[in-house]
Amino acid sequence: MRWRVLVTDPLAEEGIKRLSEFADVSVAEGLSSEELKAKIGEYDALVVRSGTKVTADVIYAASRLKVVGRAGVGVDNIDVEAATEKGILVVNAPEANTISAAEHTIALLLALARKIPSANASLKAGKWERKKHMGVELNGKTLGILGLGRVGTEVAKRAKAFGMKILAYDPYISTEKALQLGVSLLPLEEVLRRSDFISLHTPLTKETYHLLDRDAFEKMKDGVRIINCARGGIIDEDALVEAIKSGKVAGAALDVFEEEPPPSDSELLRLENVIVTPHLGASTEEAQRTAALVIAEEVERALRGEPVRYAVNMPYLQEEQWDALRPFLTLASKLGSLCAQLKPKLSRIEHLEFAYEGKIGKMDKETSMLTAVALKSMLSFFTSGVNIVNARVVARKMGIKVSERKTEEAETFPSLLSISMRTEDGNVRTVSGTLFEGEPRVVKIDGYRVDAVPSGFMLVCSFLDKPRVIGPVCTILGDHRINIAGMQVGRKERGGEAVMVLNVDSDVDDAVLEEIKKVPNILDVKSVKL
Ligand code: NAD
Ligand code: MLT
Repeated sequence: MRWRVLVTDPLAEEGIKRLSEFADVSVAEGLSSEELKAKIGEYDALVVRSGTKVTADVIYAASRLKVVGRAGVGVDNIDVEAATEKGILVVNAPEANTISAAEHTIALLLALARKIPSANASLKAGKWERKKHMGVELNGKTLGILGLGRVGTEVAKRAKAFGMKILAYDPYISTEKALQLGVSLLPLEEVLRRSDFISLHTPLTKETYHLLDRDAFEKMKDGVRIINCARGGIIDEDALVEAIKSGKVAGAALDVFEEEPPPSDSELLRLENVIVTPHLGASTEEAQRTAALVIAEEVERALRGEPVRYAVNMPYLQEEQWDALRPFLTLASKLGSLCAQLKPKLSRIEHLEFAYEGKIGKMDKETSMLTAVALKSMLSFFTSGVNIVNARVVARKMGIKVSERKTEEAETFPSLLSISMRTEDGNVRTVSGTLFEGEPRVVKIDGYRVDAVPSGFMLVCSFLDKPRVIGPVCTILGDHRINIAGMQVGRKERGGEAVMVLNVDSDVDDAVLEEIKKVPNILDVKSVKL
């Protein structure tokens, strides 16, 4: 069966063509929320830009939806939390329109400084008003950038070429990055107080909603000019209108609005010193083509279950990070599955610790991907609908605390991944694995050294290291025509507790397990399928 993709906002032809290579594509622009809710159940993927509101209601109605693709960067029109909870991947094309948005910002900056739109309109209306259109230079002026991410950075580079001094407020970037760009990273108040022009480049979040409100405008220089090519809700539009009318703000250039399109009676559309464009930041042939192609490829990868590059609700990894990670994905999944099958029956998991030691402990965000993969494969034994997108949310809902520990120090193996599972009865089981010539190996169970290939049917027995244990276990298996393909025994000290791992050629059912449990000095036995 072919996948079905619904596209609900204008998408460049190239993107539609690319989607059609692997899916049946329906284009339905301008759907009401009710219409989208009624339709979404038939689709595996939804592709939007900023027009479609992908609300929690839409997400809950989406019975077979696997991925939402946003052909652009901002995802404030998508309820990402609801998508994550439902295990729906959200992908975007964060780099596709960076340059276009930065260039549009610079266009607005210049248009504002030189009053180009009103001069153009005036001349076309037959007037010759040179004095009225006196402007200001950018050279030597201070530009305050709020949000020094992709677009903010490109704007900073270009504004510097105009001789502007750049200040920035961004609590989430390092001073080194700002220093490298030749930008002074300062507290918000100081940026507001010292800037001649202020340009917004943050996402719209709970934190940035109305970042520029009455209070913020009061702190600014008299005659400041504002550019917003990011998101409407970041500015309180009523406060902006007041600040313009009072003369505090000399002009504003807006590409984005709290409501899009803005109501026709919006004062912002009537004020002469406000320049407006209808959300054109990404509207270039280059950006639209790239965004559409990137999102089509991301959607295809997501539907095929392959790693995506631009996941919004999963860690974002660069290509080289994926390359380093790839061999460990199977190991993480196998260890998760093994750990789940070693859980004492009917005992609730309280805590899972994922430990990354050695080279793997040096990895950054990649380890959260491995944790998600291991967690998904574990929790799938206990609940349905879990995937790597929602694995942590599902764990939290199940009352399982998840933690990660990393150390660059390695004892025996260059890289060691361990999962420790504590259940409510106080029992702790730990499985550890590594890669041997690129292939996963289980190298410790509960701290006992083994060397088992995590594949097919396995038996994991804990026992007291005494004579007449291993033999009888093998005899029972033989009696039931279960062939043993491999065996590993690990112990810490002679006569103490030990672990035996057997790779067997067929499933070991409960009756056989019960027989094995009766062998003197057997403490526990679990049948595992990996
Ligand atoms: P980005 O994620 O690369 O950068 C956003 C930056 O904002 C980050 O550095 C982040 O640390 C910072 N930030 C987050 N919260 C902040 C806060 N409370 N205060 C200050 N800084 C904060 O995103 P980007 O690709 O640069 O896009 C920036 C904005 O531009 C987004 O809102 C995006 O949707 C918008 N955008 C608009 C258009 C358009 O057509 N007008 C096109 C592209 C992007
Ligand atoms: C974006 O967030 O990518 C821009 O606002 C452009 C768009 O909505 O397409």
